[in-house]
Amino acid sequence: MLTPTARRADFLMALAYATDLATGHSRDFALRSCVLAMRMADAAGLDEGMRRAIYHQALLRYIGCNADSHLLAAAWGDEIALRRELQGLDFGDKAEFAAVFVRAITRLFPGLPPQELAEAVGRGLAEAAQINVPILSGHCEVAQRIAERLGLPPELRETLGQIYERWDGRGLPRGLAGEAVKFPVRLVTLAQDAIALTEAHGFATMTALIAKRAGGAYEPELVARFLAGAERFMEGLDGPVDRETILALEPRPYAMLDEAACEEAYLAIADFIDMRMPFTFGHSRAIAALAASAAKRMGLPAGDIRDVRWAAYAHDIGELTVPVATWMRAGALTERETDAARLHPYHGERALTALGGEGKAVAALVQRHHERLDGTGYYRNSRAPDLSPAARILAAAEAFQTAREARPHRSAASDATVAGTLRGAVKEGKLCPDAVEAVLACAGQPARRAMPERLAGLTPREIEVLRLIAAGDTTKEAARKLEIATKTADNHIQSLYSKIGVTTRAGAALYALERGLIRQESAYA
Ligand SMILES: [Fe+2]
Repeated sequence: MLTPTARRADFLMALAYATDLATGHSRDFALRSCVLAMRMADAAGLDEGMRRAIYHQALLRYIGCNADSHLLAAAWGDEIALRRELQGLDFGDKAEFAAVFVRAITRLFPGLPPQELAEAVGRGLAEAAQINVPILSGHCEVAQRIAERLGLPPELRETLGQIYERWDGRGLPRGLAGEAVKFPVRLVTLAQDAIALTEAHGFATMTALIAKRAGGAYEPELVARFLAGAERFMEGLDGPVDRETILALEPRPYAMLDEAACEEAYLAIADFIDMRMPFTFGHSRAIAALAASAAKRMGLPAGDIRDVRWAAYAHDIGELTVPVATWMRAGALTERETDAARLHPYHGERALTALGGEGKAVAALVQRHHERLDGTGYYRNSRAPDLSPAARILAAAEAFQTAREARPHRSAASDATVAGTLRGAVKEGKLCPDAVEAVLACAGQPARRAMPERLAGLTPREIEVLRLIAAGDTTKEAARKLEIATKTADNHIQSLYSKIGVTTRAGAALYALERGLIRQESAYA
C-alpha cells in the first residue's frame, strides 16, 4: 500500500466545517471568510507570509470554541443558539451584548414568572463577565494547542490568542488596541463580520454597519479599503465554497502531512471533539485503541487497521452540531433533538469528505459508526452487505466504550454488563459476532467462543491482494500499490487463486464479495 499523504488544508477544512456548525455559523462560513480575506489580502498586495497567516486565521479562528462548551451551556442554555446570536455583533455595544444574554436566560427558564425571570436576568448579567472571560481565554489557549499539533506556524499562536480583541481596545481578554492586535486578526475579524452581517441584514446594511464601526471594532484604514471594493470582494460569497477553491488559495509551498503527521492530526481532532464535555474526555482515543486492536486480532490488513483507528478518532465530529445543552440534560431527548442527534454520522462524513485519498475510507467508516447489521442503526439504516469488517468493528467498539462511560442520564455500566449487552445485540442480529468477540477479547473480557483464526482464512496481505484484483487492477497496478515487483505480485496472485480455488479475476472478485472482504464503504466514498 502506498504511504498516504494528505494536504494539511484538508484537515483545516474538516475542522472548519465542524466548528461552523458547533458555533451556530452557516455552512461554509469559515471557508467563505477565507475567500473574502484572501481577496482583500491579494488586493493589498500582501506577501506570502502574511497571506498564509490570514489563510490559517480565517479557517481556524473558532477551533478553540469547543472547549468548555458545558460551562457555557450550564450558564446560558443552548450554546449554539447563543453563539448564533453573537455573530456579527458589536461586542463594544454593551446594550446589544446584554440583550443577547437576556434572551438566552429567557430561553433557559421558559415559563418563569416575570419577577423571578427578572431576578435571574439580573443575576446572569452580573455574573456574565466572571463566566465568559475565563471561557474565552480557554478558547484561545485550546485553539493555539490544536494549531501547534497540526504543525501550523508559531505565529498563528499569537493571532489565535487574539480572536476577541478589537481595534479600540475594548475586546477580550487583554484589551489590546490598535496595531497591538495583529493584522491577520484585524482583517479576518472584519471579513467574518462582513459575511455574518450580510447574511443577517443584507449587503447594504452590512456596509453601513461596518462603516459605523470604523475606529471601534475595526481599523479605519481597513474599513476604507474594504468598502472601496466591497461589492467585488463579496461577489459569489452567498453560497457554498468547494474544496478546490480553498486548496487553490493556500499560499505555496502547500503543507503536506505524511502518515505520522496524519495520525497526529486525527488525534488532535479526537481531543477537539472530546473536550467539549467532561464526560466524553478520552472517549475517541479509547474507541480507537480498542477498534484497532480488534481489527488486528481479526486479521485485517494494515491499511484497514489504520483507517478504523483514524475513523474512531474522528467518529463523533458530527456531534458538534448538537448543542451540549442537549447532551447534558438528564431527561429524554425531544423528537427534534433525537432527529438532530441521529444525523451526526451524516455531518461527520460531510466534515471529513474534504479529506482526499485515504480520508474517503475514513469518512465512510465514520458515516457507519451507528449502523447495525439488521438495518436498525442510523442514519442511513444500512444493512449487513454495506458494512465491512472494519465498519462492524468500529460499531462494536463504539457501543462497548460508550456504555462503560457515564452520561448525565445514566451511570456507567460495568464491563461485564456491557459484554452481556453486546452479546445480546449479536443474538438480535444487530452486531457482528466476530467483531463483538474481538472487541470484548481486546477489552479483557473472557472469551465465549474461539475466535476465527483469520478473516475468511486469509492473511492480511492476501486480503489486500484479493481486493486489488477484485477491484479490477492489473498485476502491474497491484504491484505498484503493494510496492513490490510485478513478478512477485504475479506469484502472490497465482498462489492466492489456488488457495481460494479460483482461476480468473472474476472468480476472485465473487469470492471476495461472498465473504464481505470488499471495503463496501469505498463504494460511497
Ligand atoms: Fe456517535
